[in-house]
Amino acid sequence: MANEISNHYSFCLFCFLAATVFFIVLLRHKKPRNTNKKRLPPDEMGLPWLGQTMEFYKSQRKNSLFDDFIQPRIAKYGKIFTTHLMGSPTVIVNGANANKFLLSNEFKLVVSSWPSASWKGQDEISLYRSTKILTFTIVFECFFGIIVEAEMLRTFERVLEGVFTVPVQIPGSRFWRAKKARVEIANMLIEVVREKRMQMEGKIEAEEEKGGTLLSQLVAGMIRGEINEEEVVDNVVLLVFAAHDTTSFAIAMTSKMLAQHPYCHSILLKEAKDQGENLTQDDTKKMKYTWQVARESMRLFPPIFGSFRKAIADIEYEGFTIPRGWKVLWTTYGTHYNSEYFQDPLSFNPSRFEESVPQNFPKRNPRILATQCINSQAGSQYPKI
Ligand code: HEM
Repeated sequence: MANEISNHYSFCLFCFLAATVFFIVLLRHKKPRNTNKKRLPPDEMGLPWLGQTMEFYKSQRKNSLFDDFIQPRIAKYGKIFTTHLMGSPTVIVNGANANKFLLSNEFKLVVSSWPSASWKGQDEISLYRSTKILTFTIVFECFFGIIVEAEMLRTFERVLEGVFTVPVQIPGSRFWRAKKARVEIANMLIEVVREKRMQMEGKIEAEEEKGGTLLSQLVAGMIRGEINEEEVVDNVVLLVFAAHDTTSFAIAMTSKMLAQHPYCHSILLKEAKDQGENLTQDDTKKMKYTWQVARESMRLFPPIFGSFRKAIADIEYEGFTIPRGWKVLWTTYGTHYNSEYFQDPLSFNPSRFEESVPQNFPKRNPRILATQCINSQAGSQYPKI
């Protein structure tokens, strides 16, 4: 009996605590405080704590983030609105001007705070898978001289799968598995970096004369004390993610577009080399139509959906205030599917890129892309190949 009473009390105490925690979270979440009466972008905050993370994640998994999540909110609130994602109030901005504003104010008003997009197709899985294996292997072997072993790609993919999940550290959750995978990757790379260091100790000049891989240059910097081991590993991981997931998606979607548009395919083939002939960098510069096809495919299916920033100061933009500490998500679709910039935006028309910059685009700041994506410097040639 005493046991039953004690259980009953424990249960009541648990309910009381759970209810208290729930109401505290509810009250705190109710609305972000707006003490200075600033005009915040219109909001749709969703559930306490979770916000609209589940809707965001669900549409992301269906590969319809723009159609299911962003577009209905643009229709309701306009190009700038607030939601609550993965634990943070997040302002979503759309349009070329907004993207230019954010990307040119890195470190002044915003800092990077985020993950990348991942895509799950249905019909194209095997093509996408093959291009993924291809680009993953190229990045590892060409940039770092590291031979890819079975399971490595899967471990990297586990990290990506955790990017858009609710950040709860429950064993078995996607987030937990992603963090575990990230540690596995770090451990694997630490071994490689230490081995490289041993090989290079005392022979940096000779290695640099040979040109070496990107990894040997990073390790040379480590031996000179310019960067530490953790930074070398972080750089390798960042580059692998940035380079392989984007290009494999671009290649897969370009191939899909060509399969669906045989006329474009036939024009493109005129620029292609004969089988067995090697493609040089000079050749790729002459492949004007091929590049238009790649750009049009990336316009319709951007390899990066957009990305998150964190406001490091109160930002005044288009009559709204984005408070310091909030997240901002700029989007590619918000520009790519906008008829203000691209006539008949849903149709596949590579020739629209005969003009290098679409009409009504804000004037390009040459610093913007150079500081964001090294591919724009190192080879917008990559997708042509
Ligand atoms: C079709 C291919 C690619 C597309 C569409 C693409 C697009 C982008 C975009 C939009 C960003 C900016 C992300 C942000 O500011 O949050 C970015 C960043 C970056 N990209 Fe690319 N990229 C591509 C390929 C590559 C390749 C091949 C490399 C490496 C060789 C690369 C390396 C990087 C790096 C290092 C960053 C900076 C990441 C950071 O600082 O967080 N990208 N890319």
